[in-house]
Amino acid sequence: MLHLKLETDPRWATIAEENIEEILTDHAWCEQKACTNAITIITHNSQYEDLVTDLLELAKEELEHFQMVHEIIKKRGYTLGRERKDHYVNQLYKFMNKGGSHLQSMVDRLLFSAMIEARSCERFKLLSQRIKDKELSKFYYDLMVSEAGHYTTFIGFARKYGQDIDVDKRWKELVAFEGELIKSYGKSETIHG
Ligand SMILES: [Fe+2]
Ligand SMILES: [Fe+2]
Repeated sequence: MLHLKLETDPRWATIAEENIEEILTDHAWCEQKACTNAITIITHNSQYEDLVTDLLELAKEELEHFQMVHEIIKKRGYTLGRERKDHYVNQLYKFMNKGGSHLQSMVDRLLFSAMIEARSCERFKLLSQRIKDKELSKFYYDLMVSEAGHYTTFIGFARKYGQDIDVDKRWKELVAFEGELIKSYGKSETIHG
């Protein structure tokens, strides 16, 4: 369904499992960034009522995810560390067209968001399948389902409002770009690392 070019090396799940406190902190901040990103899109595109409605819902879900991760951190006696930089997302950001029309920027931002959801979904799936900890395995399965829904939401709005843009072509370009980028990842203890 997600059509990613490259699957994550399953050994990444072992690295994640061995560094679960670090993964949980990084993950918590990923959810915060996902919430902030949705609000930023709303801020720049307030004229689209359905987009605002659905992205408000999505932002709420991301905030809930942030809260859920924080509850797990507390329950396990860990502490939420400082915000982590997301190098993968920062590099993916470079794909976006700057200086084009408002609509082009909007479509790119939606596709960029869809891609992060797709990759996160793939990582959560891997964690849910590989991790021995039952509670976390179930947790990551549930999140995988939720992030897959977000992927669909972002792609859907890109297609709906990008009628004058070849959205499928742009998505294929992004898939290819991400496929190259992700080759240097999958080796460290962060959600997109
Ligand atoms: Fe999320
Ligand atoms: Fe999401």
